Amino acid sequence: MAQTFFRDTWAEVDLSAIKHNINELNKFHHNSKKIYAVVKANGYGHGDIPVAKAAVEAGASVLAVATFDEALRLRRAFSTIPILVFGRIRPSDIQLAADHQIALTVYQSEWLEQAKQYTNDSVDLHVKIDTGMNRVGIRLEEEAYDVIKGIEASPFQLTGLYTHFATADEESVEYFNAQKDRFEAFYHRIKHLVSSEVEVHVGNSATSLRYKEDLYDAVRFGISMYGLYPSEAVAKNTSVNLQPAFTLYSHLAHVKQLEAGESISYGATYTAKGKEWIGTIPIGYGDGWIRKLEGFQVMIQGELQPIVGRICMDQMMVRLSQPFDVDSKVTLIGKSGGNVIQVEDVADYLETINYEIPCMINERVPRIHT
Ligand SMILES: Cc1ncc(COP(=O)(O)O)c(C=O)c1O
Repeated sequence: MAQTFFRDTWAEVDLSAIKHNINELNKFHHNSKKIYAVVKANGYGHGDIPVAKAAVEAGASVLAVATFDEALRLRRAFSTIPILVFGRIRPSDIQLAADHQIALTVYQSEWLEQAKQYTNDSVDLHVKIDTGMNRVGIRLEEEAYDVIKGIEASPFQLTGLYTHFATADEESVEYFNAQKDRFEAFYHRIKHLVSSEVEVHVGNSATSLRYKEDLYDAVRFGISMYGLYPSEAVAKNTSVNLQPAFTLYSHLAHVKQLEAGESISYGATYTAKGKEWIGTIPIGYGDGWIRKLEGFQVMIQGELQPIVGRICMDQMMVRLSQPFDVDSKVTLIGKSGGNVIQVEDVADYLETINYEIPCMINERVPRIHT
């Protein structure tokens, strides 16, 4: 196959890990739940289309995204699979959703009234109930009543009903239980308006790994489809064994020895204490490998090499434990020798969550799907 990129820094995404994670989830639920593969934000930075393809092959039956553009992009690649958009689209764009059979989320009767003016065609709608996330969703039963009645009086179909938990990944179960109870009560009171065909889905990864009794018909499987636990609390409280899919590599572009007192990179923030071997790696903040990662480590032949001096837009320097050859493989995330740098190690260093790491490695870094 012709080479499609020419740089020495790339992310490798293991599609068999995606399939493994879906299979593990299915085993855990005895195949009792439908799986919505959440592939928003370019498949959490893993590559939406290849991930979606692997997920569908492993049995996912719906693709879920945040934006209408993401949905349209997927529809060009998948002609028939159901696609759901979580976010609000402009009512004036609804004809496009009808033409491309993209299911939408609705939580405002005003939106519904406006959308009706732009099409006479059928569109599948999922009603979103806000039980405590306080992001989007219907908060009051009367509003739900109006929206459901509004759908009945439109060319659209009510095909889903859902909510989203704010704390399913946290150690404490209190807020989760309050949301769960609120949804149960809400659903109980509007159930007579909703046909049994309507799919009810409440669970993200954390809920699906940890609260398997509370899931209704389907799960919206995001971070853990990519092999990452939503939090330590979930990792501790589930028997599901996940396999991470994302790894990040580069090669040494330059190797040299500095003398004591010589400094490195912009601002000369790092100064060699003695003779030091320094390697240059072609990745930088222009790739999403941000400047705050100065001081973090990468691996060459399983040995840790600290990042020294400021990270530039396209390159950064590491202090080498030995004079490695130019072109030696560098592991930024993944296994090397007997060692591993996990997505979580990068996240901990940056004081953030694992979700953010593959997302922040931007499109300048090619994804290779294996
Ligand atoms: C509505 C909704 N459902 C499901 C998910 C998937 O969540 P997770 O990645 O924690 O599985 C998200 C992601 O943010 C979401 O916004």
